[in-house]
Amino acid sequence: MTVEHGARDARSTAHQPWVEKYRPKTVRDVASQEQVVRVLEQALETGNMPHCLFYGPPGTGKTTCALAIAKQLYGPELYKQRVKELNASDERGISVVRDKVKTFASLAVGAPAPGYPSPPYKILILDEADAMTTDAQSAMRRMMETYSKVTRFFLLCNYVTKIIDPITSRCAKFRFQPLALETMTTRLKYIAEQESLELSDDVFPACSKHSGGDMRKAITLLQSAARLFSGKVDAAGIVEVAGYIPDVKLTTLLDLCKSGDFDKAQAHMEDILRDGYSGIKIMDQLSDIVLEADCSDEIKGDIFMKMGEVDRALAQGADEGLQLATVVSSAIKSFEKYPVAA
Ligand SMILES: Nc1ncnc2c1ncn2[C@@H]1O[C@H](COP(=O)(O)OP(=O)(O)OP(=O)(O)O)[C@@H](O)[C@H]1O
Ligand SMILES: [Mg+2]
Repeated sequence: MTVEHGARDARSTAHQPWVEKYRPKTVRDVASQEQVVRVLEQALETGNMPHCLFYGPPGTGKTTCALAIAKQLYGPELYKQRVKELNASDERGISVVRDKVKTFASLAVGAPAPGYPSPPYKILILDEADAMTTDAQSAMRRMMETYSKVTRFFLLCNYVTKIIDPITSRCAKFRFQPLALETMTTRLKYIAEQESLELSDDVFPACSKHSGGDMRKAITLLQSAARLFSGKVDAAGIVEVAGYIPDVKLTTLLDLCKSGDFDKAQAHMEDILRDGYSGIKIMDQLSDIVLEADCSDEIKGDIFMKMGEVDRALAQGADEGLQLATVVSSAIKSFEKYPVAA
């Protein structure tokens, strides 16, 4: 790469979100998802490819894999002719399938691109295919057969159950798994190196925990924290940008309930609300804390019953302050009702 090229690349990527900047360009660079990577690499060698259905939770590499294989098969020039991407921003009714999908699927293929495998078919990528109506899916299933000589369909979705059986049975299905801690750590370390970040070791488990295996979310957390803390990030920074209530606030709340001091416990709960956390978020995290708490099952059961009622009331739009106050008072009562045996 010439110096001039390098400078231009650096400028064009400087303001890009890291999820795009570090989207793997080749199938081999996709972390984890060994099964699909193996099949796609074979397709690169042989040119043989079935219709494919990629499914699994968000941020696990479905779109990345589809785009990477298409780029590797055709190269940047031929890509424009041979690959069509439709996603949720496009209309998903039957008319689109009849018009756009059919027109593209039925086109004959042109000359191959020198230096790339360019197999003699086009690729139609339907991202977020689970948003398609059943009618549209039915219309598509016939096209998959009629035009299978000249077109391969790549369907990407989160919920495979929303895809009709006649389509799933025509595709090779690949389940994308949430990324494990080690895989995520390797990728985040690489990004941190490229961006010259100073990370403490606890950042990686924190990103993994707060992203739930969603690589997009993990990278976004890292970028937000890096920006907020000028490139020096620790786990507390990740917790902050994740909007996660620090555990200690909730364990303190439970301890105050245990001590039976309503005024203090209530004031603490109001503090948490004043920090900007929503009632639903507090309930959600508090349930984890109660589950792990060092108290009897009767007390836990009691508190959960109340939290269930409050959760429902909150979902229906009840006042957060009042509802959370009832959780505090009922927790205090439960601790009094089942005193710890001496
Ligand atoms: N397996 C992976 N290896 C490396 N990076 C990944 C992987 N999965 C996701 N990423 C990162 O996360 C970003 C989002 O991934 P991608 O768009 O492929 O997710 P997706 O599975 O299509 O999610 P969705 O279901 O929300 O569409 C990518 O740009 C990339 O930076
Ligand atoms: Mg996607």
